[in-house]
Amino acid sequence: MKAPIRASIPIRFEHQVHFTRGVFEPANPLLKDILKAGTTMPVADVLVAVDENVVASRPNLARSIQRYFAAHRSDCRLVCPPLLAAGGETVKNTSDAVNGIYSAIDRYGMCRHSYVIAIGGGALLDAIGFAAATAHRGMRHVRIPTTVLSQNDAGVGIKNGVNVFGKKNFVGTFSPPVAVINDFDMLTSLPDREKRAGYIEAIKVALIRDGNFFERIEADAERLRRFEPDAVEDLIYRCAEAHVRHIATSGDPFEMGSARPLDFGHWAAHKLEQLSNFRIHHGEAVAIGIALDVIYSHLAGFLAEEAAERILRLIEELGFDLWAPELDEEEGDGEPAVLLGLEEFREHLGGTLAVTLLKDIGAGFEVHEMDRALIKQAMKRLADRGRRKTTGS
Ligand SMILES: NC(=O)c1ccc[n+]([C@@H]2O[C@H](COP(=O)([O-])OP(=O)(O)OC[C@H]3O[C@@H](n4cnc5c(N)ncnc54)[C@H](O)[C@@H]3O)[C@@H](O)[C@H]2O)c1
Ligand SMILES: [Zn+2]
Repeated sequence: MKAPIRASIPIRFEHQVHFTRGVFEPANPLLKDILKAGTTMPVADVLVAVDENVVASRPNLARSIQRYFAAHRSDCRLVCPPLLAAGGETVKNTSDAVNGIYSAIDRYGMCRHSYVIAIGGGALLDAIGFAAATAHRGMRHVRIPTTVLSQNDAGVGIKNGVNVFGKKNFVGTFSPPVAVINDFDMLTSLPDREKRAGYIEAIKVALIRDGNFFERIEADAERLRRFEPDAVEDLIYRCAEAHVRHIATSGDPFEMGSARPLDFGHWAAHKLEQLSNFRIHHGEAVAIGIALDVIYSHLAGFLAEEAAERILRLIEELGFDLWAPELDEEEGDGEPAVLLGLEEFREHLGGTLAVTLLKDIGAGFEVHEMDRALIKQAMKRLADRGRRKTTGS
């Protein structure tokens, strides 16, 4: 028998997240400099896909993009006017947007050295990023996130994906973009509901990693409630930084192992989004998922009651509901439907369950099983709290 051939293949990625305003003001060189530096083409070919809800609320955006590329024609070239794609989870639930990108790449003869730029919320970035990562086995990609959640979490990571078989992110890749550009001006058109949804990912990283950050969010709670830009921008920056640091230093950027600390609260959240037919948005579902795992952490004896109460209070103070009617849904066997989320989470991780719980504010740790009876008890507490809030008693 011949000896096996082995080789190690070192790969290094530079990951850059920029912060700016007016990214498509012709005088702002950031985007064209990034495009120029990241390709071997003398003039970079660029396809732009935009979230249609962003365009609807910023009617001049498509024209500004075209003007920007016209002003920088010696460095980069738009192959066609910006393509619109559905915003929100719809874009991940159908193959329309992904196929639309593939066919434009084909029609305009774009190659691996050309760029696909995605502008929109986390859902659009996930779908367009997937198309960019798979066309020609991976094209150059730039993300311009337009929601709080995508600027501080979804858009600054290196994953993409679409939903298939009713399962979130069933198909997708790990594929670091050339750059992420957070333009704070994009947030001016974002509805308050969406701004709030993004706060929860910051609370999440604070809870598992950084007690000081949690205190800062508590101190800023009133300003965040009023959506004051300075407070929102500080929260985005600190949360984005924590995500990027995690990816760069955790030792497992492509999640080959089962540990997934940044998915704290997400096993129930993904299921709730799906059970609600995406009526409950990602961030809102994560708020409930975190509340559930915080109560569970307390009931299981890991987290002190005062700490649990302090966390729940902050989440409520920022305007989140901690309960949704979908928590009452049952399977044929009478078991809560949300518990299926745990099994799907296990499948998604690759067989070994790894759920992050809390020992303290700022101190997450991992468990490999959860007690169903205790989860049900935690759900009951959430339901009591939610109903108390609804009836005002
Ligand atoms: N890839 C990852 O690592 C990762 C991480 C976390 C979450 N996600 C995914 O991100 C998605 C959630 O992202 P999201 O919270 O940004 O929501 P979203 O993309 O669904 O956007 C929310 C809504 O706001 C609209 N919108 C976006 N920007 C706007 C703007 N500036 N003005 C007006 N309207 C605007 C969108 O069209 C949509 O209707 C989920 O699919 C989730 O699974 C991915
Ligand atoms: Zn999330």
